[in-house]
Amino acid sequence: MTNEVIAIASDHGGFDYKEILKSELENMGYEVADLGCHDNSSVDYPDYANKLADALKDGTADRGVLICGTGIGISIAANRHKHIRAALVHDALTARLTREHNNANVLVLGGRTTGIETAKDCLNVFFNTEFEGDRHQRRIDKMS
Ligand code: RB5
Repeated sequence: MTNEVIAIASDHGGFDYKEILKSELENMGYEVADLGCHDNSSVDYPDYANKLADALKDGTADRGVLICGTGIGISIAANRHKHIRAALVHDALTARLTREHNNANVLVLGGRTTGIETAKDCLNVFFNTEFEGDRHQRRIDKMS
C-alpha cells in the first residue's frame, strides 16, 4: 500500500476501461477514489474532468486517471484547470516521457482508441516514473 490516493473518472466511452484500470491501481497498492461515471449511460465528459480537478485541488486525491472515448475531450476539459497537467498518452514511451518531462499529474487514455493491454502498460509506467526536474521544472513554471 502506498500513501497516495489516485482519483479515476470517465465518461461512458471510458467506463469499461475505468473499471479495469481501477483494479490495476488497487493491485499496485493505491487507494482509489472512483468519481464515476457508474455505468455505460451517456454522460458529458467535462463533468467528470471537473470532478477530478476538484478532488486534486481539495486534497481528496494526489494524482488522477481520466478516460473518455478518445481521451481528447476529457484532457481538454481537465487542462482548463491551472493545477492540472493532464497528458493524453498512447503508449509506454509517451507515458514515461510525460512524467519525466512534464510532471503530468493526470494520465489520460482513450477507451476507444487504445487497446486495453497498452492502456495497462501506460498506467504502470506512468505511476512508476519520477519527474526529472531541473530544466523541465523551469518550463513548467512558465505555464503557471
Ligand atoms: C462520447 O461519445 C465521446 O465524444 C467522448 O467520449 C470523447 O471521445 C470526446 O472527446
